Amino acid sequence: MNKVIIDCDPGIDDSLAIMLALNSPEIEVVGITIVAGNSPVELGFKNAKKVLSFLNRLDVPVYAGADRPRVRDYVNALDTHGEDGLGESFLPDIEGQEIPEKSAVSFMRETLKTGDVSVIALGPLTNLARLIDEDLDAFLSIKRLVSMGGNFRSHGNCSPVAEYNYWEDPDSARLVFDTLYEHQGRIEMVGLDVTREIVLTPDILQEMKRVNPKVGDFVEKITWFYFKFHWEWEHIRGCVINDPLAVAQFLNPAILNGFEAFTQVETGGISLGQTVVDSMGFYRKESNAIIYTDVDKTTFWEMFLTRILEIELAQCKEIFAKYIY
Ligand code: BDR
Ligand code: CA
Repeated sequence: MNKVIIDCDPGIDDSLAIMLALNSPEIEVVGITIVAGNSPVELGFKNAKKVLSFLNRLDVPVYAGADRPRVRDYVNALDTHGEDGLGESFLPDIEGQEIPEKSAVSFMRETLKTGDVSVIALGPLTNLARLIDEDLDAFLSIKRLVSMGGNFRSHGNCSPVAEYNYWEDPDSARLVFDTLYEHQGRIEMVGLDVTREIVLTPDILQEMKRVNPKVGDFVEKITWFYFKFHWEWEHIRGCVINDPLAVAQFLNPAILNGFEAFTQVETGGISLGQTVVDSMGFYRKESNAIIYTDVDKTTFWEMFLTRILEIELAQCKEIFAKYIY
């Protein structure tokens, strides 16, 4: 069984990613660690508990981590994710769920040392940078590190060149990429080039509600705000759901394709947070990242929908084939 820590900032699409992960029998989510990102860390903690409660999985431990980026001031993304960080669904808080004393980084230190635990990072990389500061060996013991963040050819979503997770805390992202370079490690970068292809449309949502009303209604509650945001900003009908693609790639490495390259994160000036991907080998440096550029959308959607709706593949194809190519 693949053991995984999900490091995240829920967040609408983080929540969908948690739903996919916990409906996937190949992995065991040993813990969820929260980082300040879309939502302040306390709110992210509460939102993770709401999702776990919906899934009847409050047995999965949740730990709170960094409440601000490494160097810069914290800027939340509640304009995108709603004032409650969950699309203004205003789901009630789960009673009796206090933030544990053990921090996210302490939990990571203990858990990663075994060498058989992977991390799927769906928010800013602040917790991982703190782990590097506190226990480099534990960081280097991560079995597989998949991060939703960055962009190669795509434009950014926070500036012309930067994606939110790395823009929010560029100094931590820089440290993670640089440390991997120094120690011949690799990060799998599931960036906007591929996640922009994953659009949850009103048609898909409507069928989801019909096939599994409980799950469909929950997804509608948390995504509707995101739909409105995407229409106002980009004139997209639907919403880009970035984070579940990182989980899907962890589960099935054939979903994404890309190339390896030396990559560094910019920490200043107008390109703050940009991932500079040396795709042509100008710097003659060993690669520290796998940069994904192509996505098999059908395979992603089939995995996502069969698992979160708990339906068979044949039924999924019959209902959704016309919407998911
Ligand atoms: C990333 O930023 C957040 O808004 C999403 O949760 C995702 O992790 C996309 O840029
Ligand atoms: Ca996220």
